[in-house]
Amino acid sequence: MIVPATTENIERAARLLRDGELVSFPTETVYGLGANARNAAAVGKLFAAKKRPADHPVIVHIAEAAAAARWARAIPSGAQALARAFWPGPLTLILPRAQGVSDAVTGGQDSVGLRVPSHPVAQALLAQFAQRDGHGIAAPSANRFGRISATTAQHVADDFGAEIALILDGGPCPHGIESTIVAFAGDTAILLRPGALSVEALERVLGRPLSSSVAGAPRAAGMLATHYAPRTPARLMRSPELADALAQLAQPGAHIAVLAHSVAQPPDFEGTWFDAPTHDTAYAQKLYANLRALDALAADEIWIEAPPDGPEWHAVRDRLRRATDRA
Ligand code: TXA
Ligand code: MG
Repeated sequence: MIVPATTENIERAARLLRDGELVSFPTETVYGLGANARNAAAVGKLFAAKKRPADHPVIVHIAEAAAAARWARAIPSGAQALARAFWPGPLTLILPRAQGVSDAVTGGQDSVGLRVPSHPVAQALLAQFAQRDGHGIAAPSANRFGRISATTAQHVADDFGAEIALILDGGPCPHGIESTIVAFAGDTAILLRPGALSVEALERVLGRPLSSSVAGAPRAAGMLATHYAPRTPARLMRSPELADALAQLAQPGAHIAVLAHSVAQPPDFEGTWFDAPTHDTAYAQKLYANLRALDALAADEIWIEAPPDGPEWHAVRDRLRRATDRA
């Protein structure tokens, strides 16, 4: 059930979490599907609802950086610097887990993912949950496993319907793309998933480059080749390739749905055309809503114009590659 994120409803959500139920809430990145991180049965419900394999860890959302010590047994100095600079905000840190953190949360790994969200509704929910002795909300993105993430309350309802007790509606998520995930192997910082926070911003604070991968680095589900994927076959095409394919399209042909940001719609095009925002942050904010809307058309194919090469498009390129990988 979708309800507005009023104080009363946030309190209700906190009570439901305490009682072992699932609630969905907005964050600045995407909607999360939350459960009491200290209740293994409740976390189990998350995996069942998402149809997510049990060995994929979930992020624990905490109210403030000071709470990290409950979940992590060590916080390398680099991680402390990142937390100081970017929490609350769209950064997830993967840290060695503390004793007592359930395998249900960590997927059996020796690490735990932590994030302090900045969205006022997420913050208020964490505060209300703390008043009921709750210490962290385990929350993956509120979508079925492998599918397109949810950036509105309606997206969450479309995926889960009546399966979850409550969906707090806080409007569309401001970033629209998931948090950036950084793991630490000793003091080496490793980028596990590009996201709403740029690599440049992280490196400025760290004072050194992020590693892109290290043998034995923790696994992350968002790293699977196929993820964030529409059901409709989708192709990622460079701008000239898209323009050529459009010029050669037989009319009347198959129903093609296009997501473009610089290529113009040909006058005789008979499919469905979406013009995406041309600015990177606006593009990201609308990305999942656009992919969901394109998928709902049940077209024969979705053609997506590849985004530009610049670093500001890193996370968008990553998501589009995974959305269109047929492997
Ligand atoms: O922006 C976000 O991060 C959103 C909002 C709701 O906070 N959450 C999110 O969760 O994207 P999810 O579960 O869809 O993706 C989290 C990723 C997964 O790929 C998971 O494998 C990885 O984080 N992860 C979580 N804990 C981990 C750990 N201990 N070690 C390695 N990867 C971990
Ligand atoms: Mg996800």
